[in-house]
Amino acid sequence: MANVSPSHGKGEPWSQDQAFLSSLVHELKAPLATIEGSALLCRKWLDLGKLDALAFGEALDRIIRQSNRIREVIEGLRFLHTPANLRWETLDLAVVIQETLEEFASELKNKRIDVSVRDSVPNPKVRGEGILIKTVLRNLVKNALEAMADHQKELPKLEIRVSSPDDTVELAVQDNGTGMSIEIMKGLFEPYRTTKAWGSGVGLALCRKIVLAHNGRIWAKSRAGRGTTFFVSLPRVGEKENERRTSSGRRPRR
Ligand SMILES: Nc1ncnc2c1ncn2[C@@H]1O[C@H](COP(=O)(O)OP(=O)(O)OP(=O)(O)O)[C@@H](O)[C@H]1O
Ligand SMILES: [Mg+2]
Repeated sequence: MANVSPSHGKGEPWSQDQAFLSSLVHELKAPLATIEGSALLCRKWLDLGKLDALAFGEALDRIIRQSNRIREVIEGLRFLHTPANLRWETLDLAVVIQETLEEFASELKNKRIDVSVRDSVPNPKVRGEGILIKTVLRNLVKNALEAMADHQKELPKLEIRVSSPDDTVELAVQDNGTGMSIEIMKGLFEPYRTTKAWGSGVGLALCRKIVLAHNGRIWAKSRAGRGTTFFVSLPRVGEKENERRTSSGRRPRR
């Protein structure tokens, strides 16, 4: 993890267009592979006349989840380049966490990652655009998994915590991966900075842009060789405010 300058491994800096394209390709590859694999399985079961309704339903669910993921990736990148008005809704962060971890389910299982969610807030409600808040969490989880893949000394551990200091909801995503040097921490949220041969350095810049648009804060603590924790703090929706919004017809959209 020495080189923090934008790079695509060939000694030349990325142009913004190249980085954007590379990021798009990188983000879409995994869900497309899952969709193709699941659809081919369904085709095979049909051709062989072996129709296990449960397995078939699970394959369809994977296709639906990963199609949603593709839609969300495109929405996130669109937001990075052409910020639009937010579609505000009341969100339960516990649900956002659950849905995001479901997207990574097979990767977490295959890589034997010890995942824990510590949710000390009964109703961690925030206001914002669900797709974008999920994009933040997805990027933080993706970075954590990549940092742990590069650092196999310990059993990989991913911990997600939700707490509520003051009138905010604070989300922490902790890994025991490579950690970061001070040089990497400087300008961490600047776009197009990456230490990864295949990375485009878009993820954290997008996270910051989204969090700021939601009147929140994002920061990180890290120890080289020991691991990293990213924190996201968002204004909390109080119970009364939540009731007022839902009873006045502005129901949370899911
Ligand atoms: N959890 C983490 N552990 C260690 N290093 C991290 C972690 N998260 C981010 N980094 C460092 O910050 C850099 C920027 O991260 P960012 O998500 O913006 O881009 P990327 O992961 O390199 O590429 P992209 O997300 O666009 O595919 C990474 O290249 C990596 O060096
Ligand atoms: Mg990233």
